[in-house]
This record gives sequence, C-alpha cells and structure tokens, in this order.
Amino acid sequence: MCGIIGYIGTQNVVPILIDGLKRLEYRGYDSAGVAVIIKGNLEVRRSVGKLKNLESSIQGENLAGFIGIGHTRWATHGRPSEENAHPHRAGKLVLVHNGIIENYLLLKRELAAEGHNFKSETDTEVLCHLIERYTKRGMVLEEAVREALKDVKGSYAIGVIHEDYPDKLVAARNGSPLVIGLRKGEFFIASDIPAILNYTRDVIFLDDEEIAILSPDGVVVTDLKGMSVEKEVKKVLWNPVMAEKGGYKHFMLKEIYEQPRAIMDTIRGRISHESGKVYLDEIGLSDEEMKKIERIYLVACGTSWHAALVGKFMIEDMVRIPTEVDIASEFRYRKPIIDKRSLFVAITQSGETADTLASQKEARKLGAKVLTICNVVGSTSSREADGVIYTHAGPEIGVASTKAFTSQLTALFLLTLHLGRVKERINSDDVQRLLGDLVKIPKLVEKVLGSEEDIAKIAHLFFKASDFLFLGRGFNYPVALEGALKLKEISYIHAEGYPAGEMKHGPIALIDENLPVVVLAPKDSVYTKVRSNIEEVKTRGGIVIVLATEGDTEIASKADYVIYIPEINRYLTPIILTIPLQLLAYHTALLRGSDVDQPRNLAKSVTVE
Ligand code: AGP
Repeated sequence: MCGIIGYIGTQNVVPILIDGLKRLEYRGYDSAGVAVIIKGNLEVRRSVGKLKNLESSIQGENLAGFIGIGHTRWATHGRPSEENAHPHRAGKLVLVHNGIIENYLLLKRELAAEGHNFKSETDTEVLCHLIERYTKRGMVLEEAVREALKDVKGSYAIGVIHEDYPDKLVAARNGSPLVIGLRKGEFFIASDIPAILNYTRDVIFLDDEEIAILSPDGVVVTDLKGMSVEKEVKKVLWNPVMAEKGGYKHFMLKEIYEQPRAIMDTIRGRISHESGKVYLDEIGLSDEEMKKIERIYLVACGTSWHAALVGKFMIEDMVRIPTEVDIASEFRYRKPIIDKRSLFVAITQSGETADTLASQKEARKLGAKVLTICNVVGSTSSREADGVIYTHAGPEIGVASTKAFTSQLTALFLLTLHLGRVKERINSDDVQRLLGDLVKIPKLVEKVLGSEEDIAKIAHLFFKASDFLFLGRGFNYPVALEGALKLKEISYIHAEGYPAGEMKHGPIALIDENLPVVVLAPKDSVYTKVRSNIEEVKTRGGIVIVLATEGDTEIASKADYVIYIPEINRYLTPIILTIPLQLLAYHTALLRGSDVDQPRNLAKSVTVE
C-alpha cells in the first residue's frame, strides 16, 4: 500500500517528510515524492525507486517551508514512473493518495472534456483535477475536497495542499487508513503511526467519509456534508518496531488480518451487480479472442500453484474449458502442447519468480496468449504478459504467502466469471448470484479470524508433533496442500497435504496416536466421503482436527477438535477454509520459536531457477 505523510507547523517540513516516508518503507513502494509550499509557491519533487533517489534529487536545494506532503507509491494503476509518482498536481494544488478510485476513468473523461490535461495513467491525478475543478468554481479548499469526494467511488486516504492556502492542509479518508498527529503548534497526517511516532504519541484516527482541516490553530474534523465531528485524541503506546507491524507481533499475522481488505480491494471496481458483469480492464484479450480459447494453462510455484489448482476446479466446473495446471519448474521441460488457441495464465505474487517467468516466455514463444495474475504492478511478469489481473493485496512482507493467496483465488473467480460470460456458459442471473456471494467473503473471513484463540489452543496441543497430515477433496484438496505448506515452511514440521480419497493408497500407514490429521470437511458434494475418511483415521487411533460447516455437530462428534467455518458456495469455500490453516501454522511456529516472517532457507521471491 502507498505511504502518506503531511505536516504543518513551525519546523522545516522536508526533513520531517523524508523521515516519515523512511518509516513507511516497510509498506513497500516503487517511487516517492514530496511537495512543499515555499513563500506561496508550490515545489514538487518526485523520483522512481528508493527514497535515496528522492533525497539526492533535492540535495543542496533550499526547500525551506512549513507545510508539505509526501508519498511512497505502491503502484496499483499505472506502472512505476516519475510521472505516475505522487504528489500529483493540478494548477495550484497538489495531492497524495492511498487507495483505488473505482470510477476514475469516467471522471477523467468528464474532466478532459472540461479542458483538464492529464500527464499520468493514475487514478490519483484524476482526483487532483476533480478538486481543482471545484476550487475554480470559487469553493474554499476544504469545500472543494468535500464536493470532489462526493463524486468519487472507491477507497482513499488523501492529503491536499494549495498555494492559495499556505496555512491549510486538508486530509480525508474512506477505506484506507489515515492518522492525524497532534503536537503543540504542529500537526501531522500519516497512513500509519510509525511515520509520526518520532514527533508525537497523541493521535486522532479518521473514520470513513471524514475530512480533517489542519492549520496552525489546530485540527477540525467534519463529515462530507461539512458537519463537524468530535474526535477522541488517543495515546499511542507502541514502540516503533511494533508500530511498523500495526501492533501485530509479525508481518505474517498482520497480513492474515489484512485479508478482508485485500480481497475487497481485489474485487473493487471490477464487478457490476446490476449488469452481472465483471470488468477486467487490463486482461489484454478481447471477448472475440477469449471466445477462441480452447485450452487454459495455469502455471505457478508454491502457494500460487495451489491457487492454480483451485482455479482449475473453478474454470472446468463453470466454463467447461479443459484447464491444465503445471508447476512452473516442470512446465517447459515436458514439451507442453500449447498453441495460439491456448491461454497461458501465470500466477505469481512477486511477478519475479524465475521458473514462472521462464514458463511464461516459453508459452509466448509457442504462440499462446499470456495473462498474469500478479500482485506487483510493473513486475517482470506483468510487463512480459499480454494482459494482467492485479491482485490488490498490497505488499506482502512475510515470506509465507497469505493475503496474496486469497487475493489470487478472488482474481481467479473473477476471471472464471468473465470467461463464463464471454463463452456464454454462465447466464447473467447466475453471475449476479455468484457476485453476491463474492462480496460477502470479506465479512466471512473476518468472522473466521474470530476463531484465532481456539486455533491457538489447538496449536498449543500439537506444536511438538513431528508430522502433520492435511486431507481435503475436490475444490478443497489444494487447500489441504496449502495448509501443509504453510505449516512446514514456518514451523519446520514435516507436513503433507493429500486428497482424502488417497488415504487408503498409502498415507493411511502413517496413522497413529501421534499424528494430527487436519481434515477439510465442509458440507458439499463429497462430504459423506470425507466423513468416512475421518472414521478411517479415528479407527486407527489418529487425531482428527476437522474444519466443518457451522452447525455440523454430527461430524464434530466424530473428530477430536473442530473449527467451524461459515457456509458459502463451493467455489469460494477454499478462501474461507485457508484462514484457520494460516492461523494454525502461525501459532504453531510461534510456539516452536521459529522466525515466522523470515523462515530459514526461504526467500520471499525465488528469482533463481
Ligand atoms: C508461499 O508461502 C511461499 N512463500 C512460496 O511457495 C511462494 O508461493 C512461491 O515461491 C511463489 O512465489 P510467487 O507467487 O511470488 O511467484
């Protein structure tokens, strides 16, 4: 996610902005910039890459001012570049933004027709010009911001300054976090607490659709109608390191809890309930080209490969196109039968995994259309593909992939619905119904996160186990693999995921009273078969931890421990089932004292073959 910092007060602002941005670096970024008002004139400096590039670009300049805003950009619309970097400018006004403006293309067309000229590909620049439109109609800055935000759909945390208002910094939020820092005669805005912890521990947390006007006299908060809102000043007790993790002990846990937002952001702006349509603007293939696709290849590594396996079930079940799944390091050595009637989909969080990139190149060489489902804008995979579906999970710092995985499943579901509509295999009523289920997912994930305490208790019972077995069937078999991978990569316990039906073909020999067996048993078409598998484990003295549909007391009575999950359609159940497995792995690793965020021998992105 992007990082925002702003200041108005009595100190020289640029060092404060740079220091604040440095404390937001952990959020991941690909460009940075600052804007300052100096004697009534706006100065803007932006640079691609790391903050040191920005620092060297302003070194030796006397950018002495008392009001300014700064930004580190995690690209969501428009590749990393100086013209796409924030702050964006429109006339006398500059703005920094974290979030996604869903209706920016419509607004951009309206503003262009009114004579506004755009220099970047970003949604943020549109918001900048939208506010300028209203200042030109005679509104004071905060009124213009309110008016503009009424036209906006989507998420934002913004900071705005204007040459004609050198004593005013306006901030607002909806869906993206923004905190106000208070000190005598000095006021700050920031995306996150670490940026201002050096200066103050007294903060106000803005809530959705609230605007703050910071001036040397203090902070006024109103709603979008201009009605003032009373806000409580809170005292931050975190130390700086804790603050970077949002108060969580590890980035992995923070990212597990970010999943409702990550999934919502991946959906945002891509669906219309009314028309039952899915909009994948950057997919790179026309409906006509999509119609000609006869075979699909989903290729990835690790957790992303597990997402690919779920994607196969989704596509073949709903769209009825043969879908092959390959581990990227195997794909190009098996002489794949792939040609221009094939769609090759790379699934990669980092967009830099060497095996996946090599497979993507091979597929392209063989004539296939190439699409990538990727979490990093401007990554190699996204640049070398014909089209991209970005997951908007934000930077994933923990080596063990969590929010990227559930965002990948969300993106695959959107792709499946789009394919189904284009190939006329799914009617719009069904798409509307399925979209209705999809938008429930963030809340259902939040609900399952509520069972963390119970899951931690189960981890406490089994963290000394030397082996674990994870069983699932159908759509949920890949989730069994994912649960095993999460556990093994951060707790170093040997864990295997298996199709539950395969038990009798070998793994059943492993069953004894020391082997915890996690069984994914939601109410679905293979439920009775999974229930029999549980009985097979129990009769051989195994320990069964079952993930079951809420209210299913019958299967709970056959297991030793039960974790309940809410019911949703089979396509989306994998997202819900994954959450408890992520938490089980996390708490087990915690108890074993391993390095949860940086497990031994592992890298976040495997850029070598
Ligand atoms: C997952 O927890 C691991 N960190 C690893 O398996 C990862 O999914 C794999 O290396 C693929 O990475 P990518 O999605 O960035 O291509």
